[in-house]
Amino acid sequence: MNKDFLCLSDWSLEALEKIFALTSDLKSKQKAGLQHHLLTGKTLGMLFEKSSTRTRVSFEAGMFQLGGHALFLASGNTQMGRGEPVKDTARCMARYVDGVMIRTYSQQVIEEFARYSSVPVINGLTDSYHPCQIMADLFTVSEHKKNYRELSYCWIGDGNNMANSWINAAGIFGFELRVATPVGYEPDADVCKRAADAGARILYTNDPREAARGAQVLNTDVWASMGQEEEQQEREKAFAGYQINMDLVNLADPDCVVMHCLPAHRDEEITDEVMESRHAIIYDEAENRLHVQKAIMATLMD
Ligand code: CP
Ligand code: NVA
Repeated sequence: MNKDFLCLSDWSLEALEKIFALTSDLKSKQKAGLQHHLLTGKTLGMLFEKSSTRTRVSFEAGMFQLGGHALFLASGNTQMGRGEPVKDTARCMARYVDGVMIRTYSQQVIEEFARYSSVPVINGLTDSYHPCQIMADLFTVSEHKKNYRELSYCWIGDGNNMANSWINAAGIFGFELRVATPVGYEPDADVCKRAADAGARILYTNDPREAARGAQVLNTDVWASMGQEEEQQEREKAFAGYQINMDLVNLADPDCVVMHCLPAHRDEEITDEVMESRHAIIYDEAENRLHVQKAIMATLMD
């Protein structure tokens, strides 16, 4: 088994499906008020170099529900934020805690951290990937639809960390994925190549309508991710037309579901109308961060 959870494509289908099975079990125990203290006495260190609502709260609440404790570390208040080498922070933290969750910019940082950490490291978002989010998303689809691996998914918008993780997932789970991005904002070429080598069925296009037509799951994300704030205006021009609105939803399957990892910019990448419609499963998706991440932590840290 892998020590860390850094990128979906490090994991096998079988291992990820085991995490989903544990997620179901933990979710039903939590809903029934049954104790599920799989990590009694354990501590998760959470290192944040970017803002967060859902990731921080779901990991922290999740550790508490598992009988453990979580420690929030904002990078500005750590020595790593003042330039202490990643490998020194990693080796010291591993002497205090039983697992580390990191939200940072570069995937290389998290990989270096994991190399020097003797305890599991979990990716809570980098510029390259958001694997915990895609696990929560797929689990949510599986609750709403039969045969989640046989559906047609589409991604509308930026070829960012979320898109890359969806592409990783298409290579593992085998579902059809159509990715519509503006020219110049395509997903990472190496990620696409790896998925193709894994036999993924992915269509890349610049036409959101082609991607959405008949799709059962529609997905999008902000046009400017964290760290790209100064590109907002330029991106608003490039991404005009890459919006999930009712016209696009009406091209998709009549019972399609619409997802967004949040935070959303209503009436930019997705309309308020779609977010409030019967198609949106966005808050179930947010809730499932909690359940899926508890299963990931229990798998790695137990
Ligand atoms: N979706 C997600 O990761 O949300 P936060 O940025 O609020 O953690
Ligand atoms: N792509 C977004 C996701 C936020 C959860 C970002 O990186 O800011």
